[in-house]
Amino acid sequence: MNNDSTLKALLVVGLTALFCSVVVTTTAVTLQPIQRAYQDLERNRVLVGIAGLADSAAALSDREVVSLFQELDARVVNLDTGAYDDSVSADNLDGAASATDPDASVAIPPDQDIATIGRRARRVAIYVVPRADGIERMILPVYGQGMWSTLYGFIALDADLNTIVGITFYEQAETAGIGDQILRADWQAEWTGKKLYDAEGTLRFRVSNQAVDPQSPEADYHVDAISGATVTTDAVSNLVAYWLGEHGFQPFIDSLRERTDDDVQSP
Ligand SMILES: Cc1cc2nc3c(=O)[nH]c(=O)nc-3n(C[C@H](O)[C@H](O)[C@H](O)COP(=O)(O)O)c2cc1C
Repeated sequence: MNNDSTLKALLVVGLTALFCSVVVTTTAVTLQPIQRAYQDLERNRVLVGIAGLADSAAALSDREVVSLFQELDARVVNLDTGAYDDSVSADNLDGAASATDPDASVAIPPDQDIATIGRRARRVAIYVVPRADGIERMILPVYGQGMWSTLYGFIALDADLNTIVGITFYEQAETAGIGDQILRADWQAEWTGKKLYDAEGTLRFRVSNQAVDPQSPEADYHVDAISGATVTTDAVSNLVAYWLGEHGFQPFIDSLRERTDDDVQSP
């Protein structure tokens, strides 16, 4: 075929495009499990940090993360019944897939969807730091829509399942220097010791745009919003309100807390 032929030029371009797309697709498919494993590892690094199993989770080797993760008691909670569900292992529960699978999730009515997530899984994996006579700490997954991205994190509760030990995010894509300030250690430190529920069991916690008198009883339930990033911090407030509220973990937490007035006993 003549080198100047249009047909030959089109053939070469077509074959080159086909070859490149096969290479890119094959590489993407081959690397997907590796990428997923790294994402899980980084999520588990954040998890062992907020579980209090390491002073500096960032400094842990990958092997140490895997080893410390084994110290956590991973359990499955059925949010519809508010009880543990031991019919499935937390290791076998694919949280991301369950959240979109029509059979494994429920649509959230718009008036309840304060975290703007559309659907939520019926069963969710949670993590318990065990101690001899019960629970040392409980870590619950939380997520919701921020300004530009979905914010994925964990909230850690003390043995009373009412006092916040900490909040952390392992995935978000808010604006650097603005919305991503939710990762600031000093802001996250403000959460430590705050309460979720009042004596009547009403969820009172929120991230507040208005200054709260530190001497007032309200101060126990409030964390200050980050100035200049209130869209993202409002979103954090909303996602906590959803997941710790009556359509999230609250029935489960209430049932565990009813078992004892003091710390929660072994799961
Ligand atoms: C390019 C651009 C990116 C922004 N990114 C964020 C963000 O990631 N999170 C956020 O809360 N606000 C972000 N903002 C600011 C919001 O639009 C809004 O002004 C701010 O959240 C309000 O905070 P304030 O009530 O404390 O002033 C961004 C603004 C601009 C112009």
